[in-house]
Amino acid sequence: MQRRTFLSTVAVGTAGLALAPLLASGQPTTTTAASGQLPRNDGTSRRYRPEHRVGLGGGLGLGNGRREWSEQHALQLLQTAWEQGIRYYDTSPWYGLGLSERRHAMLLASRAADDYLLSSKTGRMLIPEAGYSHDTWQGVNHFNYEYDYSASATRRSVEDSLQRMGVPSLDIVFIHDLSPDNQDMGDRWTEYMDQAVKGAMPELIKMRDEGLIKGWGMGVNELAPARAALERSDPDVTLLATQYSLLKHQDALDELFPLAREREHSFVLGAPLNSGYLAGGEYFNYSKDVPSEMRDKRQRYQQLAREHEVDLRTAALLFCNAPDVVSSVLHGASTPEQVRENVASMSARVPTEFWSAAKEQGLLAENAPVPA
Ligand SMILES: NC(=O)c1ccc[n+]([C@@H]2O[C@H](COP(=O)([O-])OP(=O)(O)OC[C@H]3O[C@@H](n4cnc5c(N)ncnc54)[C@H](OP(=O)(O)O)[C@@H]3O)[C@@H](O)[C@H]2O)c1
Repeated sequence: MQRRTFLSTVAVGTAGLALAPLLASGQPTTTTAASGQLPRNDGTSRRYRPEHRVGLGGGLGLGNGRREWSEQHALQLLQTAWEQGIRYYDTSPWYGLGLSERRHAMLLASRAADDYLLSSKTGRMLIPEAGYSHDTWQGVNHFNYEYDYSASATRRSVEDSLQRMGVPSLDIVFIHDLSPDNQDMGDRWTEYMDQAVKGAMPELIKMRDEGLIKGWGMGVNELAPARAALERSDPDVTLLATQYSLLKHQDALDELFPLAREREHSFVLGAPLNSGYLAGGEYFNYSKDVPSEMRDKRQRYQQLAREHEVDLRTAALLFCNAPDVVSSVLHGASTPEQVRENVASMSARVPTEFWSAAKEQGLLAENAPVPA
């Protein structure tokens, strides 16, 4: 038995044990999946693309980003996603410093890996430290972290993720937050990039060649590192967050999408609601410090949505799913109700007049694709 196979076999066993109390408490272990309702890619792309065009992000809700949710609540959230037909789950060791991945075990460890698509991330290695907590995540984590984009850390990180989730494989691995907006690194992101170009990237290519993963790419909130990876290596798919939404999209459209198109590269979009701002929340891109330009733009969109009797959150989700280079959109949710609403949005229609008025008013870029 190879080391990796051994690790994953052990992981399934231990995750199953950790789950036993929850599953015995009356929570259903099987669901009536409504799979098939949500849009999928047709599989004709020469380069790997995730099959499911709608995914659930495991950051804010499942990582306790804004509130400390119970395990029961997290399980209900995940089960609702499954019942609603969501089959793509994205998480990271960073989300709740291991918590989000451990919670995914509640849904995924007992299921066949072919029945869902799973991405996680690499770059932050978790280090046990009693009582450690980080202000990004509510509650005590007991895990500190350090950055390591070397080849050996990348493989170790993937193995650790498999163990936490009790799953035998990941479909996609994203190199996480190697980006100038990451306050831990700032301008030094280019040094980390050099390390990743020599370490994490060739290792992920090797893992792809070995068939251990299907694809890899950057998981970032800025265009520069996404572009650098495309220029310096051979990624399949970028998780691009906060750069493509109703509120901000011109730079991605002009500076990144054409290069991606040339390479048959695609994007999984994160933060389609700008972390909840387009659903009426008070956080814009994870901060309550909202730029006045964005406040103003949201107000104008809200007005337009009222005039056309459109739900703005729905328009925001559908807009993100429109470009040909987008292979999937990950919405975040902190309650089962939000999951249901976001899934329902995917089969809603927004009148053409809303999109043309948004372009006329300069809210939307002229060259921005809109849903058919
Ligand atoms: N660097 C990276 O790799 C990176 C960066 C960012 C995101 N991502 C990925 O993208 C995923 C999604 O990002 P995100 O969570 O910022 O996505 P988002 O969809 O823009 O925002 C999610 C938040 O919007 C609010 N919301 C969602 N549905 C709602 C509804 N129906 N009604 C009212 N409010 C609603 C909730 O806020 P409340 O919790 O306040 O209710 C929810 O937590 C992440 O989980 C992660 O997987 C990756």
